[in-house]
Amino acid sequence: MLGNFSFHNPTKLYFGEDSLKYLNEELPKYGEAVQLIYGGGSIKRNGLYDEVVAILKANGKRIVEDGGVMPNPTAQKVREGVQIARENGVSLLLAVGGGSCCDYAKAVSVSVNCKEDPWDKYFMRYEEPDCEILPVGCVLTMAGTGSEMNGGSVITNRDMKLKIGHVFGDSVMPKFSILNPRYTMSLPMRQVTSGVYDIFNHICEQYFSGTDDNVSDDLAEALMKSVVRNSLVAVEDPQNYEARSNIMWAATWALNTLISRGKTTDWMVHMLGQAVGAYTDATHGLTLAAVSLPYYCHILPYGLQKFVRFAVNVWGVRPEGKSDEEIAHEGLAALQNWMRQIGVAVTLTDLGATPEMIEGIAKATIILKGGYKVLTRDEVIKILTESL
Ligand code: NZQ
Ligand code: ZN
Repeated sequence: MLGNFSFHNPTKLYFGEDSLKYLNEELPKYGEAVQLIYGGGSIKRNGLYDEVVAILKANGKRIVEDGGVMPNPTAQKVREGVQIARENGVSLLLAVGGGSCCDYAKAVSVSVNCKEDPWDKYFMRYEEPDCEILPVGCVLTMAGTGSEMNGGSVITNRDMKLKIGHVFGDSVMPKFSILNPRYTMSLPMRQVTSGVYDIFNHICEQYFSGTDDNVSDDLAEALMKSVVRNSLVAVEDPQNYEARSNIMWAATWALNTLISRGKTTDWMVHMLGQAVGAYTDATHGLTLAAVSLPYYCHILPYGLQKFVRFAVNVWGVRPEGKSDEEIAHEGLAALQNWMRQIGVAVTLTDLGATPEMIEGIAKATIILKGGYKVLTRDEVIKILTESL
């Protein structure tokens, strides 16, 4: 039975090759000073920076520069961004980049008018904002996180070796997001496929829990099949607009709160991956890829029927004459085969983790209770060790 829920997603999306022009419709809604948030320079190299600046100027905006947001944005950088916003009386935070820029913008948005330290308040104490929140807009350049249409903000504290996500509510979600698949074309293929695996795993995290016949799971299966099909096209033909646009749209729907409605969710692959990220600063999607198969093999006996369904409905495994265990394992083998095809079949060792780090990573792993098996600390260590 579907559980009780509410559903409201306030983010307005503009999708497609001419979507940037809609920035002209959004900007007049906000004040004069716009904090232009971007990463390490990809938008300067591919020309998007110039396009955005031209639109901001045409709309009479004062541009407050805030570049250099790193992948896996840090608490320290958030504190700097808050300072920039305060000093310049900013009224809109415009993130132009991937999930890191978008997550960072949200963390700044809830902290500008708040006296407490953002890391302590939102990521250690997990409090909700009780101050005025600055509006966030997003021009997305990488498909993966879904940050463009959700309230998630994942921040890393390098000193503490912790990477923690806070899922904020409607009021923190971007007011608008502009999604032009062409902007993702300048990504190196390794980032594209890392984003693809992130998308796929977001769907898995919401799929591998519960036993009900649930419309959310039907939607999840359709999204998974679309991601697999289009990723294989994109790997062969990186400039294929149809594949790249389907991937971008699937990423948004994979994590915009829809497919988790009315059911429990797992999110343990992300908890493991985030702890790995805190230790290695590795690319998010690859941290997930490294731990996925050991984790899913481990929980398979506890959620056997769902793994059977996954094998048959997503991977087309023929069930005739096979035991449930055989079908389920064939599904995971198909997952592994696809990961190899798109080049994300990596180990924790590939990402720079060492056996000496396992204890610390295990300690930094937050254990959630929504999946098929609530892990013990020993099980976390076993899964991480198998992922090396
Ligand atoms: O910094 P620049 O120079 O822009 O380069 C970036 C960065 O190096 C580059 N890039 C992005 N768009 C590009 C491009 N390079 C060339 N052409 C383009 N069009 O790609 C690199 C990675 O960018 P990043 O924003 O870090 O990637 P992603 O979108 O995967 O975001 C990762 C962050 O999001 C968090 C992750 O933990 C990680 O910190 N997540 C956020 C979630 C959420 N808000 O709900 C959920 C996710 O599970 C995830 O945890
Ligand atoms: Zn993710």
